Amino acid sequence: MNIVKGLFIMLTAVFLSSTADAANKAIVVYFSHAGENYGVGNVAEGNTAKVAKEIARRLNADIYEIKEAKPYPTKYDACVDLAKEEQRLNARPAIAGNLPDLSSYKVIFLGYPNWWGDCPMIVYSFLEKENIDGKIIVPFCTHEGSGLGATASNLQKHFPKSKVVQKGLAIKGTIAQKDAKTTAKAVETWLKALKAIK
Ligand SMILES: Cc1cc2nc3c(=O)[nH]c(=O)nc-3n(C[C@H](O)[C@H](O)[C@H](O)COP(=O)(O)O)c2cc1C
Repeated sequence: MNIVKGLFIMLTAVFLSSTADAANKAIVVYFSHAGENYGVGNVAEGNTAKVAKEIARRLNADIYEIKEAKPYPTKYDACVDLAKEEQRLNARPAIAGNLPDLSSYKVIFLGYPNWWGDCPMIVYSFLEKENIDGKIIVPFCTHEGSGLGATASNLQKHFPKSKVVQKGLAIKGTIAQKDAKTTAKAVETWLKALKAIK
């Protein structure tokens, strides 16, 4: 059986059994940066946060926000520079607060902004601190033109013991921030394609 077909069947099975079996629950985990951002001005809630909340709402899933221990700059240019430097150093920025216990979740919807073509390094901090072996990771991102970039394949390479669904959702940040209706529709279409909802 090819991998895509296998994953598809696995995902379907997980979602179909999710109400019956608490061990197969899904959780939405996301990182998102508020403050000044590209094309949206200064926002109180990041773009990815809006998508994450819509996914959690549609799935009636638990949700967890990855927060950095040392806040990223609110100014866009400063944040862009720091993110670039973190990527160059392959840094693992510290996370604020307690990490969630993922043992009861089979499926992790993982959301992040595209930062320089990859996930923000703090997403790797999170995943490396958790035990995600054997779990299904379903990525979604917001971006301003690069889509998912190499994030889904990078995640799969980095976490070979997890199954990273390659058909992630990519929504433009400006849409996610300003157009709740279009965002909700994109989420719905994607979740239906994954057989996560009917
Ligand atoms: C540090 C940084 C790097 C970014 N790099 C990219 C990029 O490589 N490609 C892209 O399309 N958008 C890029 N963007 C734009 C963000 O992906 C986009 O604004 C996203 O919606 C922000 O989500 P958030 O509000 O949840 O943090 C970058 C933004 C920042 C702050």
